Amino acid sequence: MKNYNTISIIGTQWGDEGKGKVVHYLSRDADYIVRYQGGNNAGHTVVFDNKEYILHLIPSGILEHKKCVIANGVVVDPEALYNEIQFLKLKGFKVTKENLFISDRAHVILPYHKYLDVVREKTQKIGTTQKGIGPCYADKYSRSGIRICDYLEEDTFISLLKKNIDEKYPLIKNFVSISRESLIKQIVQHQRKYSKFLKPFVTDTTNLLINVIEKGYVVLFESAQGTMLDVDFGSYPYVTSSNPIVGGISIGTGLPPKYIKKVIGITKAYTTRVGEGPFPTEIKSQLQEFLRNQGNEYGATTGRPRRCGWFDSVVVRHAIKINSIDELVLTKLDCLKGINPLKICIAYKYKGKLYYDFPSSRKIQSLAKPVYISTTGFNEELSNITEYKKLPKNVKRYIELIEHYCGTKIKMFSLGRERNKTIIR
Ligand code: IMO
Ligand code: MG
Repeated sequence: MKNYNTISIIGTQWGDEGKGKVVHYLSRDADYIVRYQGGNNAGHTVVFDNKEYILHLIPSGILEHKKCVIANGVVVDPEALYNEIQFLKLKGFKVTKENLFISDRAHVILPYHKYLDVVREKTQKIGTTQKGIGPCYADKYSRSGIRICDYLEEDTFISLLKKNIDEKYPLIKNFVSISRESLIKQIVQHQRKYSKFLKPFVTDTTNLLINVIEKGYVVLFESAQGTMLDVDFGSYPYVTSSNPIVGGISIGTGLPPKYIKKVIGITKAYTTRVGEGPFPTEIKSQLQEFLRNQGNEYGATTGRPRRCGWFDSVVVRHAIKINSIDELVLTKLDCLKGINPLKICIAYKYKGKLYYDFPSSRKIQSLAKPVYISTTGFNEELSNITEYKKLPKNVKRYIELIEHYCGTKIKMFSLGRERNKTIIR
């Protein structure tokens, strides 16, 4: 069988693992960078030349002037995309139909999806980003969604919009004090503005990708969120509404599985999550605040403080299995400086039984107690170290324990926000 040059970059925890930096780093040697799920709920922070860029929809490969694809599995908020492109242009990046390709089959987030996200949050309490992601995917699966190809045809769009507003108005009228007719008018104005802007970028991205992969180009798939936020394999229902796992690439791009080759898992040296839901290794002492400050753990999309906890090998093993991860990248190791001892969760315990696999039961997820091993911490500054062998002994010990309990080699370490603060082993 032919070998294809594709690399999938997958988050192994609850998102915010540092995928943006890694994708940016690897995109130097790639030709195309592809987003296949999620929407502008993602917040990918990239720092270079002392400047910080936060991207939500466009793959961070754009900062390396690479060709970027927003595939069919993504949900696109036209306004958010417009703002992101304006932001990039202001910073001097070129974004044109020559380097950004958006699938005609991707679904569109409309203003009412954002209202519904807020309304549902009142009863569901997931802690969503309120960007309309869940309601947009719900429409997709209940077959009332509006795809980009529908959005670009004004008559099709208006008839679909009217049906949707008929259905949703009773719920959203509690949120917006606007009549049904004015709401439709407002959204149609919105569509006129943004469809003109979107049109040049829209294409059949499945054809494009099959074509370039067959020609041997290097294609990176950039996941948003992480395995524990996967709607099928995460901590349901405290998840996002898409499939960040490697299996999501095939559906989210239209590429048959034979094209999906190397898989790299991105893992933070500790664990964080934003929003509600079980988090077995969450630190309950003041140390949580200390770690949050050292790691600057505040949401890139919502600014919310992230919950922080110990490294959880139950979670990462689950991700390695579900995604067939070949190698790991360990990020933010430098942020553990001054914490002693360091703990690693190796299993969960519930009612006397040990769990080595992440349990599906929401009750067990929330009541299970982590089983930890401890190892001595370190006080050295790591961010200027450029070779693996120069890492302090206790850091190497921590890395070896993670590798041992996860059963996978770590090939790359990120020790700071800047691109050069990276060690390849
Ligand atoms: P990146 O790509 C961290 C979380 C939200 C919430 C849940 C559902 O930066 O890793 P949603 O708005 O998606 O319906 O919210 O998912 N969440 C993220 N957490 N990083 C992200 O993306 C996230 N995207 C969504 O906080 O708990
Ligand atoms: Mg995030």
